[in-house]
Amino acid sequence: MRVLVTGGAGYIGSHTVLALLAAGHDAVIADDFSNSKRTVIPRIEELAGRAVPVHEVDLTDAAATEALFAAEQFDAVIHFAGFKAVGESVAKPALYYRNNLDSTLAVVEAMQRHGVHRLVFSSSATVYGEKAPVPYGEGWEFLEATNPYGQTKVIVERILTDVAAVTEGWKVALLRYFNPVGAHASGRIGEDPNGIPNNLMPFLSQVAVGRREKLTVFGDDYETADGTGERDYIHVVDLAAGHVAALEHLDAMTEPARAFNLGTGTGTSVLALLHAFERAVGRELPYVVGPRRAGDLAASYADPTRAREELGWTARLTIEDMCADTWRWQSANPEGFPDDEPATAPGA
Ligand code: WQD
Repeated sequence: MRVLVTGGAGYIGSHTVLALLAAGHDAVIADDFSNSKRTVIPRIEELAGRAVPVHEVDLTDAAATEALFAAEQFDAVIHFAGFKAVGESVAKPALYYRNNLDSTLAVVEAMQRHGVHRLVFSSSATVYGEKAPVPYGEGWEFLEATNPYGQTKVIVERILTDVAAVTEGWKVALLRYFNPVGAHASGRIGEDPNGIPNNLMPFLSQVAVGRREKLTVFGDDYETADGTGERDYIHVVDLAAGHVAALEHLDAMTEPARAFNLGTGTGTSVLALLHAFERAVGRELPYVVGPRRAGDLAASYADPTRAREELGWTARLTIEDMCADTWRWQSANPEGFPDDEPATAPGA
């Protein structure tokens, strides 16, 4: 299938583009590069051994989004594009609702006008809120979020479910990610957050390359095995494979819209991840224990049964793989993607 990948220059998007191409699909990237560097594109093409069409577009601009769909023929859309920093969303809620909802609505309406009826949406386990029991099951109906970013995911799931219910032929997979980490085994692409990383793994890897002085562990008094927060870390390469599996399952879906957890089903604590990463790096990393971070849960991990049974997908890569691949990327690219790099011929 020819797939539009919105946000395809981003961390998960770029890995998913590679997985789509490897599975024999065609991919077209649409990105505004607000949270990614253009130099990821030649690296994607280098790894894929072929050119990848890219459209620089602000998807909140309905006219520009329509022009994109008029210029290309898509069989499906994988929609990653959106702002995703929890803390920033608390400080700038209007920006997050405007960007994440307007871009989704522009894409949805263009899909309807152009007869594109397959959609995979990048949702998040954050929609389970604070009351759902772990491990999280997709049947939990009281979706909520404690921050505007997470709330945009709840709202977009609702929008897509309502549109799919009344639009002929629509099939939508709502993929609820847990904690994506890791990098392509080549070390040529990986996570490269703007500014100070909010998330644990990129912060850890920046400590290891000397960009950050030390890790602060946000609390060690949780009701968990070692007192630190437990999360379901999933390798971004497994996550990308989950998107391909969901895409290829859409036509067989009996419901217009359906949620799927993409997680391992296993929780790993902050300290356990820290020590696993130290083993990958080959030395101890400096850390201090600080206060809990507002809004953090003690534990969050998936019941991954539905994706296994219905998508035929299971996470395969281990915490050790996640740490080794992250370290290979970060140590080869201490400053992340360069701001500019001569374009390499595809397959060079
Ligand atoms: C993981 C653990 C922290 C940083 C977030 C978003 C979620 C999703 C994934 C998009 C927690 C601890 C972290 C640090 C620490 N994003 N930690 N020191 O909060 O589980 O989820 O990213 O969809 O929506 O909420 O991920 O990596 O920030 O935290 O101790 O410097 O690491 O307390 O226990 P989180 P995280």
